[in-house]
Amino acid sequence: MNSKKIINWGVIGSGGIARRRTIPEGIIPADNANLVAVYDLNSQVNQAVAQDFETSAADNIDDLLNSGIDAVYVASPVSFHLEHATACAKAGKHVLCEKPLGLTVKEAEEMSNICKKEGVLLGTGLMMRFHAQHELAKMYIQQEKLGTPVYARAQLSCWYPPIEGAWRQDPATGGGGSLMDMGSHCIDLLEMFFGKVKSVNCIINNNVHSYKSEDSALVSMIFENGAMGTVDTYFCIPDNSSKNALELYGSKGSIIAKGTIGQGSIGEMIAYLEKESTLYDKQQARSNGNGEPMIPRPVNTYHAEIEEFSSAIIRGSEPRNNAEIGLRSQKIMTACYKSAQTGKVIDV
Ligand SMILES: NC(=O)c1ccc[n+]([C@@H]2O[C@H](COP(=O)([O-])OP(=O)(O)OC[C@H]3O[C@@H](n4cnc5c(N)ncnc54)[C@H](O)[C@@H]3O)[C@@H](O)[C@H]2O)c1
Repeated sequence: MNSKKIINWGVIGSGGIARRRTIPEGIIPADNANLVAVYDLNSQVNQAVAQDFETSAADNIDDLLNSGIDAVYVASPVSFHLEHATACAKAGKHVLCEKPLGLTVKEAEEMSNICKKEGVLLGTGLMMRFHAQHELAKMYIQQEKLGTPVYARAQLSCWYPPIEGAWRQDPATGGGGSLMDMGSHCIDLLEMFFGKVKSVNCIINNNVHSYKSEDSALVSMIFENGAMGTVDTYFCIPDNSSKNALELYGSKGSIIAKGTIGQGSIGEMIAYLEKESTLYDKQQARSNGNGEPMIPRPVNTYHAEIEEFSSAIIRGSEPRNNAEIGLRSQKIMTACYKSAQTGKVIDV
């Protein structure tokens, strides 16, 4: 147990999602976190971030690591995750690394091992697990309100046209395209709801954009519990056209959501539950009810992620989104890309 009650944070790669979401919505408002310093390869951007959030701009990673921090949020491009997490761990700093944990399973394992060896915690930025509606859906499934899990679908897409030098558009710097970037969140959420994925069958394509990473991916999967699932994720659908569907079906009902997957705190989620066991309806009339809206108090996922990781450091135990979850996600991604390459179903 750490006697500290406030965790001092540094950030590597301050100019992207860190600036847009994690610093203003997570680190700044968290009760148990304090932003001490930020670092970004782009020093102009870094100065601007430091000014925006009234914190110090470190000139390099060593200066950041020597600024009295306890933990680092690593939000640099994926190809730098291992290097940055390793530097933090060797300096005795806990690491909350954005997903994915490096480019490959090997990198994720290396990151996990070095953090273990140096005695620091490693967390994975799969923050959509903290969404209040996702937590409530998980509770419904645990309480068997859906009966036997049958089928789950998750979708996350955006419009991502070719941009010169964009790291996500080349697997060498992003690890993959829409599947690695957004599909990883979707599959992770489906594992949160239905448990472990047993095998995957995946197709990827470049349907609209001609960059090196895929702009389209479709994964079908079977879970260890026998349920089935699909994830569809595209870089070539306009933002407003993708409603980021989440659908969870069981033998006693379903949960149908729009817009809960993503960076926001609230979407639309409705449960359709059978009160009693139903008989076969020859008419297939489907008239019974409008469903039960699921509207828990919204939780900002970045806020929850930072507070939970800070409290894991304070209590001296694993964070909820630990290295295991990040490593698992990376293993499923590898299985998906292998399936896409070989045309075969791949066991995870
Ligand atoms: N959980 C989420 O909601 C979410 C959303 C977006 C991105 N992400 C993840 O966050 C990470 C960053 O994505 P992004 O969208 O912020 O990317 P980005 O390109 O918008 O920002 C990355 C920042 O890192 C800086 N940078 C680049 N190389 C660096 C280096 N070697 N050292 C230090 N800084 C460096 C860049 O200058 C830039 O400011 C990725 O892992 C991505 O998957 C997570």
